Amino acid sequence: MEIITDFKEMQQRCLALRGEGQRISFVPTMGYLHEGHLSLLREGRRRGDVLVLSIFVNPTQFGQGEDFDSYPRDLTRDAQMARQAGVDLIFAPEASRMYPSGHATYVDVESLTEVLCGADRPGHFRGVTTVVCKLFNIVQPHIALFGRKDFQQLAVIRRMTADLNLPVEVAGMPIVRESDGMAMSSRNTYLSSSERRQALALIDAIRQASAAARGGERDAAAIIRAVRDRIEKEPDAVIDYVQIRHGDSLEEVGSLDEHSVLLLAVRIGTTRLIDNHYLLKEV
Ligand code: PAJ
Repeated sequence: MEIITDFKEMQQRCLALRGEGQRISFVPTMGYLHEGHLSLLREGRRRGDVLVLSIFVNPTQFGQGEDFDSYPRDLTRDAQMARQAGVDLIFAPEASRMYPSGHATYVDVESLTEVLCGADRPGHFRGVTTVVCKLFNIVQPHIALFGRKDFQQLAVIRRMTADLNLPVEVAGMPIVRESDGMAMSSRNTYLSSSERRQALALIDAIRQASAAARGGERDAAAIIRAVRDRIEKEPDAVIDYVQIRHGDSLEEVGSLDEHSVLLLAVRIGTTRLIDNHYLLKEV
């Protein structure tokens, strides 16, 4: 396994691999790898000849006052985990090379980015689509794998890839959870033990909502009310949003069907957690 930091070297390497007929699988991350990232790498390993992982804490997707400086970073540990997962190349660029002075071009997906996390974090998705587009141009992947943990991000990246005619297959993968149901996230390391206990309200509320839907409840507003009530029982929980939307269009729904996804963003203390679940579909 090799670690490459220079984007030109990475691009040349990937173009040469493509020229040899090798199929490139790509998993973009911000590092501090956990089992969720590893699940993407394993699937990427199966679906390509060369497995590329990028590790880049992308400054343009963090807003003012967000956790860019404190975001956990450990390249040595990540490289060990990546090697075990069968990664061939790690791309770990410097921010100053990805965004040199004079950088002035951004990719902005409209409409889908105006709701949910986009409403709470202005400019966030513009940073995500810009960096993912740049990474696609550098790595030239045949397939790129993303987690459904970041449900809206996946929808936005699919939209960008289609709209810009990028020759990349975008694959969405299931959420990997801790044994108690908490969705894995690099940000979980911020939680104190009391906050970690309170964070279980998210999966608890999701499970209750799912049981209600399977029991015949179709009224989205009633389910949202019950989810909010459960989460608001926790003293340090502040809800950013609880919504039910169509899984593809992200349009709000009044009455549930098999496309309906429950999406949550909740702050526990200073840590913002997101989770989601299809209420009536096995995924
Ligand atoms: P990061 O948060 O590091 O996540 C990298 C990928 O891992 C994303 O596709 C994310 O959805 C997936 N992932 C994270 N937790 C997961 C879990 N519990 N189960 C399954 N997949 C999970 O998302 C980003 O980085 C950045 O926004 C990025 C796309 C790299 C652009 O900077």
